[in-house]
Amino acid sequence: MAILVPQCLARLMLILLLIGVSNAQLSSNFYSSSCPNLLSIIRTAVNSAVSSDSRMGASLLRLHFHDCFVALKGPSWAIALGRRDSTTASLSNANSQIPGPGNNLNALITAFSNKGFTAREMVALSGSHTIGQARCTTFRNRIYNEANINATFATSTRANCPRSGGDNTLSPLDVATPTAFNNDYYRNLISLKGLLHSDQQLFNNGSTDAQVRAYSTNSASFFNDFAAAMVKMTNLSPLTGTNGQIRRNCRRTN
Ligand code: HEM
Repeated sequence: MAILVPQCLARLMLILLLIGVSNAQLSSNFYSSSCPNLLSIIRTAVNSAVSSDSRMGASLLRLHFHDCFVALKGPSWAIALGRRDSTTASLSNANSQIPGPGNNLNALITAFSNKGFTAREMVALSGSHTIGQARCTTFRNRIYNEANINATFATSTRANCPRSGGDNTLSPLDVATPTAFNNDYYRNLISLKGLLHSDQQLFNNGSTDAQVRAYSTNSASFFNDFAAAMVKMTNLSPLTGTNGQIRRNCRRTN
């Protein structure tokens, strides 16, 4: 049965809690005395944000990825709590460290390997593109110029992404079930319906094809690997202790 986004987030939080995330500095009970109701406060806020804008779950998930890869700010909705906010931001670091939609498989593997992730974890984390949307400018080249794309899918996606103009019009990353967190992302790849060039790279006669096939028929295995990789990402070079700060206003440094 399809899992809707709010349930997905709540479930993911629960999975992470059960795993008992902890390391020397981050822990799942980081706020247990200073803010004992934190998790229910977050859950209520996330549920209400997602019910007023169904894309919000996807946006939060992507924010988690970008935050953890560049380690600029936190804490977020992630369960290993205690990440502190950065006092600086670096556009060039963000651009150079976060993989882009035009990347080939080797570049994707390298970008994740630079952060200590295996190709296998990269494929699992990419499954987050089972929800959310992308702007036309990020996939235009693929739908007009690439050969490894389903023709019907290319035609229907072009309707919403002209050759020129409309850069910001959105298309779902998972054409089959755009708001359900499931393994359809991998099924799409096998049907050559990956939206981004980088998505389709995971199933393009390369070293990750077998794993895509496996996830496409075994959602439990995808969910397990995804949750474990998310926990690992949460623990990526966090600012803790006296590094960074806790923002009084999320929009700006103190
Ligand atoms: C493998 C390398 C990855 C590449 C090249 C990539 C690229 C992108 C691009 C280009 C977009 C659309 C952005 C826009 O139009 O402004 C996007 C959206 C998204 N990405 Fe990724 N991504 C990658 C991995 C990940 C990972 C690891 C996660 C989370 C664990 C993630 C979560 C998301 C989500 C949820 C969205 C939709 C956001 C929304 O609808 O607001 N992505 N990604």
